[in-house]
Amino acid sequence: MTENGRGLIDVGTDHGFLPLFLAQNGYTGRLYASDINRMPLDSAIRAAREASLEERIGFLLSDGLDACPPDEVDTIVIAGMGGDLICRILDRAEWCLDKRYTLILQPMTKAEVVRYWLVNNGFTLTEEKLVREGFLYQIIKAKYLGNMPLTDAELFSGAYKNIRAETLAGEWLDELIVRFEREERGLLSAGKPEEGRVSICRSVLRGLRQMKGKLV
Ligand SMILES: C[S@@+](CC[C@H](N)C(=O)[O-])C[C@H]1O[C@@H](n2cnc3c(N)ncnc32)[C@H](O)[C@@H]1O
Repeated sequence: MTENGRGLIDVGTDHGFLPLFLAQNGYTGRLYASDINRMPLDSAIRAAREASLEERIGFLLSDGLDACPPDEVDTIVIAGMGGDLICRILDRAEWCLDKRYTLILQPMTKAEVVRYWLVNNGFTLTEEKLVREGFLYQIIKAKYLGNMPLTDAELFSGAYKNIRAETLAGEWLDELIVRFEREERGLLSAGKPEEGRVSICRSVLRGLRQMKGKLV
């Protein structure tokens, strides 16, 4: 999902696999591997050294985007973290609210919170991928092209225009439908159901079923 460009930062790089892969596969812009912890950053440096690519990548010990040089990147990748943390990192880096930057985000939890943050902070979700490796991973690409309207259901599933062509779209929507049906049943069986939550569940379910109906 990355495009060749001026530069890319991988926030929370851990072993540095992504910058290393890009350096080995034709990416020509600047590459930064950053992590808040010394140990993962050292292991990223070791991996780059073993591949003789240590000089090709800039290594930053940084909380989120704090140490990122804004003029040297156009793509920000934040993968493998919870949705709340991803939003906190973006909140602290107001400079990324700019047409120059593309965000590629892979939240491990609360993808709906990340989508909500994006579409209410001037971003359009330009591409979304679903990848299954045991867990179903959602990858969101967003550009600062203006707020994008999303339904309640799309906050959870991804924008219909983005996911409809994904091989996993049908099974992903089914998984979400089962999850929200279970939640609705749980709420209704409680002595005093929380009305607001029940109506959100119903609105999400309606949207998910509509999307599923359009797919088949
Ligand atoms: C589960 S790993 C994800 C690694 C890789 N990005 C991936 O997707 O496979 C999460 C990494 O994020 C780092 N991390 C956690 N909070 C961070 C923050 N506020 N800023 C930068 N890195 C952070 C951790 O040290 C860890 O190396």
